[in-house]
Amino acid sequence: MTATVPAPRGVGEDTATARQILGRCRALVRPALAQAVERLHPWPGEMAAYSFGWCEVGGAPAAGAGGKGVRQALAVLCAEAAGAPGEAAVAGAVAVELVHTFSLLHDDIMDGDPTRRARPTVWKAYGTGPAVLVGDALFALAVETLATVPGARGPVAVRHLAAALGDLVRGQADDLLFEARPWTGPEAVRPDAYRAMAEHKTGALLGCAAALGAALAGAPDETVAALDRAGRHMGVAFQVVDDLLGIWGDPGVTGKPVHGDLRQRKKTFPVLAALNARGLGGPAAGRLATLLESPDTPDDATNRRAAALIEQAGGRSAALDEAHRHIAAVEDCLAGVPLAPRATEELRTLLAFLVGREM
Ligand code: IPE
Ligand code: IPE
Ligand code: MG
Ligand code: MG
Repeated sequence: MTATVPAPRGVGEDTATARQILGRCRALVRPALAQAVERLHPWPGEMAAYSFGWCEVGGAPAAGAGGKGVRQALAVLCAEAAGAPGEAAVAGAVAVELVHTFSLLHDDIMDGDPTRRARPTVWKAYGTGPAVLVGDALFALAVETLATVPGARGPVAVRHLAAALGDLVRGQADDLLFEARPWTGPEAVRPDAYRAMAEHKTGALLGCAAALGAALAGAPDETVAALDRAGRHMGVAFQVVDDLLGIWGDPGVTGKPVHGDLRQRKKTFPVLAALNARGLGGPAAGRLATLLESPDTPDDATNRRAAALIEQAGGRSAALDEAHRHIAAVEDCLAGVPLAPRATEELRTLLAFLVGREM
């Protein structure tokens, strides 16, 4: 796996790279995550371990790539930014990784995607019913993990998670409903509606990760709220970049199918931005609209042509601009509250990775 990680401003010799930060946070959280998964019934436990890249189908150990671990890292870094050791965030980090994995298992069924993290998706490998079940199991485990945090911080953490889950469902609902909406005309999905959908389906959990890290570290409400907002903007930027990778990414690096979103008629940001540029996007935008509105099921050649037209109509650069606008909004959120400088610098490194990533 490779990633382009532009160096943040003022990087010194001892500044950790995004890969090092993700690795450090993964190592910190992994024992508690593994212990939580071990509490599951062995069958969903195996499917969960398969999703995390810890085993093959059948349970034989594997050292495969799991996810990037962005959400757990965000929880840890936000606890540190609030002045506590990263350990304070571990329960929150475990909960958000469990919820993230649960949401991906169910998302792959909804999106009909056959590959994730460079392997068959759980519904492909084990069947749809079992994949639904293990998703439910991970969800329950996440709630249990936070509910057993001692003292008053446990219920507070559960409330953060419950709010994020509500938003995630809202975002997934809109994402699915958008599939049936027309590409053009008064019923078309506008970029603003996309932003709300992406903030809900992706931003809410990143915001929750950040807020949980800070809340479990005992940060004041104002700091928790600012980091929640920062995480939400990060999530929209992350989703827009995910949309870009879904069209122009290398499946060998992303571990996900290319053009899945185009096949499924997903209203992703680059496409909406290209269509919104009609008149400005030149003839490419009009040709793109005609192609997308065709009732024929798109084949590989059509999807390649659509990708070229999206780029010509400015959808690719508009999506990158959008991601950078949200990164600037993250900076504003971080600037508004007192935070520990070193952890904040690491948050910035993670941010740069999120928009520059190739996986
Ligand atoms: C994928 O998230 C789903 C989105 C919200 C775009 P990640 O890209 O963080 O997935 P993994 O965990 O690294 O596989
Ligand atoms: C994933 O959204 C968001 C959630 C799972 C809630 P996508 O469907 O856009 O993400 P990928 O591309 O499958 O990872
Ligand atoms: Mg999907
Ligand atoms: Mg989806």
